[in-house]
Amino acid sequence: MEHTAVLKIDDKEYSLPVMVGTEGEKAVDNRKLRAASGFMSYDQGYGNTCSCESSITYLDGENGVLRHRGYPIEQLAEHSDFVETAYLIIYGDLPNAARRKEFGLYLRQTAAIEPQMEKIFEGYPKNAPPMAMLSSIVASLAAHYPHLATNNFEKDLVNFDQAAAMAISKIRTIAALIYRYQRGLPAIPPRQELPFCDNFLHMMYSDPDKDYQSAPEVARALNLLLLLHADHEQNCSTSTVRMVGSSAANLFTSLSAGICALSGPLHGGANVAVIQMLQNIHDEGDDGTRFIQAAKSGDKSHRLMGFGHAVYRNFDPRAKIIGKACEDLLNKLGIKDPLLDIARKLEQAALREDYFIARKLYPNVDFYSGIIMRALGIPVNMFTVIFAIGRTPGWIANWREVAADARGRIYRPRQLYVGPLPRDYVEMARR
Ligand code: SDX
Repeated sequence: MEHTAVLKIDDKEYSLPVMVGTEGEKAVDNRKLRAASGFMSYDQGYGNTCSCESSITYLDGENGVLRHRGYPIEQLAEHSDFVETAYLIIYGDLPNAARRKEFGLYLRQTAAIEPQMEKIFEGYPKNAPPMAMLSSIVASLAAHYPHLATNNFEKDLVNFDQAAAMAISKIRTIAALIYRYQRGLPAIPPRQELPFCDNFLHMMYSDPDKDYQSAPEVARALNLLLLLHADHEQNCSTSTVRMVGSSAANLFTSLSAGICALSGPLHGGANVAVIQMLQNIHDEGDDGTRFIQAAKSGDKSHRLMGFGHAVYRNFDPRAKIIGKACEDLLNKLGIKDPLLDIARKLEQAALREDYFIARKLYPNVDFYSGIIMRALGIPVNMFTVIFAIGRTPGWIANWREVAADARGRIYRPRQLYVGPLPRDYVEMARR
């Protein structure tokens, strides 16, 4: 049954089509509103605006539901791994054994970066923000592999499989190279026989004459962390990838823009801000009680980083999974992290205090991920880089939806102009 919405403005009525998604979500299609009525719709930050139809991820913020191509995140976290979930998110179905083997081989074969690319690193100060290095070096993939980055949707879609596997694999390698470069350590080349996460840990922590031996729990925890970050509907960085991709910019360029968006502390940079917050609380001899009081004052400098979400008005399902994995990993590795104790106290307080309950502020994906990454020996300034490695499959899948949309058009939102009314130029002598 067709639904329509009727908008009454003054003495006129306008009928607008209603679109219904496969999960029953409804949207008023206001694409023709301005032509029909002269009115635009206003939605600062697009908090209640669908920029697209997408089949990749479904979020139900009210009920804390997250599904990738219909599969609940809880089941993927329990039964799948990062590479398989990346394949699912990009191609729409779980791979059979042959496709999984082929995809894994693609990732291993494209893991190394060109020797010429390694020179780029020398152009950065050792203390450069890793996300600044990652975004620009990823953008340079378009320069080194122009045949995969023609800025022509049709041609780039023909080579999509190779570009997608290369992006996932090389972003991981570039991340490890950034870590090594910033510490004056020699680059450790990838080893084709290693699985995705083991190869990353090898490139990060091995020595030229001694391979890193990770406890199985470490690679498993990293795998879970990347899987849980793989996609998340139209978040700030994913929408950025779609926006840039809609201009027919190639995949690598669009991914670089997504990395830039993710670097902000209100988005992917929150995991760094969480650890800094917990460390400050610890260093001030506070068990969290004083900080909670300050956060309740609404003081922006005392925001509970890792809490709240633009969509979830309930628990972020990923936070629950990461919180448990964090506890398990620290127990298995015999690590007693005082920041975890403080995190638990903040979580308990936030779940009890009216200020947070009224604003539906629950722990989000970033709240525990930083503590797990500390346990994995990942330095704080690399936390958001790990998030970017995880989010790459989601960005790729969204870029592909834009590139493959025959009805697609360049993203070009409107604005409500609130600036000066027309006025004439004034010569300098009369100003
Ligand atoms: C990610 O979109 C995604 O999907 C993102 C992500 C993904 O996977 O891609 O899930 C990853 O980015 C998770 C979010 C990480 N960011 C943080 O943890 C930073 C801390 N959180 C906030 O800054 C905030 O909650 C946001 C940015 C996440 C969401 O902001 P909203 O929905 O725009 O909320 P708001 O700023 O309008 O705040 C509503 C109220 C305000 O109080 P009042 O003005 O009504 O009195 O809640 C308060 C805010 O002051 N508030 C907080 C708070 N977050 C909001 N108060 C204390 N601590 C907080 N963290």
